[in-house]
Amino acid sequence: ASLELGPYRHFMQKEIHEQPRAIADTIEAVMDNGGFSAELFGDNAQSVLADIEGVQILACGTSYYAGLTARYWIEAITGLPCAVDIASEYRYRRVVANPKHLVVTISQSGETLDTMEALKYAKSLGHDRTLSICNVPESAIPRASRLVYYTRAGAEIGVASTKAFTTQLVALFTLTCTIAKLRGQLDAAQEADHLDSLRQLPGSVQHALNLEPQITGWSDRFAPKQHALFLGRGMHYPIALEGALKLKEISYIHAEAYPAGELKHGPLALVDSEMPVVVIAPNDSLLEKVKSNIQEVRARGGEMFVFTDADSQFGESEGVHVIRTPRHVGVLSPIVHAIPVQLLAYHAALARGTDVDKPRNLAKSVTVE
Ligand code: G6P
Repeated sequence: ASLELGPYRHFMQKEIHEQPRAIADTIEAVMDNGGFSAELFGDNAQSVLADIEGVQILACGTSYYAGLTARYWIEAITGLPCAVDIASEYRYRRVVANPKHLVVTISQSGETLDTMEALKYAKSLGHDRTLSICNVPESAIPRASRLVYYTRAGAEIGVASTKAFTTQLVALFTLTCTIAKLRGQLDAAQEADHLDSLRQLPGSVQHALNLEPQITGWSDRFAPKQHALFLGRGMHYPIALEGALKLKEISYIHAEAYPAGELKHGPLALVDSEMPVVVIAPNDSLLEKVKSNIQEVRARGGEMFVFTDADSQFGESEGVHVIRTPRHVGVLSPIVHAIPVQLLAYHAALARGTDVDKPRNLAKSVTVE
């Protein structure tokens, strides 16, 4: 393993650092193609995607959070409704199916039992427009789907998913733009803008990785804690969920994520000086609202750890620590903000001495119920 690890201590750390390359590889087909088009998803994709009336996403774990993020893009950019379900819930629910909705499964391994069974159930309800976003070629779920987009993260060994997540997001953004274009919702200028954002993404992710020393400084303060709260709004709420999941999976610190607007409806009761609060707060239309959520936490003595971006004019103050990603990247911002929360979890786990690549009780691929 030491040969494969190179300069890294764990596969998770290596995989976090591989993300600029993994993302570049995953968008290569789009760049070679010079734009978004149905063929990126398979030969007969045009006929499958052309007249869909909505999108139903099915997944588990981190892949589910990729789906939750994609809903913001799909509804905003394509104008189609999008539902996102946890596969193990969907498969046992009486679902009202519209066969004109595209069923999108997201799975790193392509072998997760619940996701596979949810797909079979969707098909039994009449869904025949099925698309798999997967990292493992020829695995079970893409084989059972009509269309597929392979993320090109490369083998992911760490149980906690990192590069699979960000490449899933890239694939989902590509799908969003492709559907929007087919529906006449994306003009040439918008398409060029989105392509340009994708082209710059590996560089923006690399800039976020360069924050590692600052994040290590924070993680020492997290390591002794028993609990942490993660907050985000809008398309960054799923990144808060993913940050909390990463922290609990590998450091065993109990972490919960809330949409920041829900603070007053419960979690504020937990806030005291012993509860670190991580906020994902890039400069977007919700920033002012997030700032007022931060005041609510500060007023209760909570220590804040804020991830924001270059544009946000967010200052450090008593009890408010700020790490800034160097670029504001607009609609792809959730992908860039996934990096610091991965690094925070990794370094907190390192400080606690847990088995980062093989956390207790967890498996990389869950092929049983
Ligand atoms: C397990 C893994 C997670 C993963 C989830 C879904 O819980 O530990 O990292 O997100 O399964 O796996 P999949 O392969 O379907 O994406």
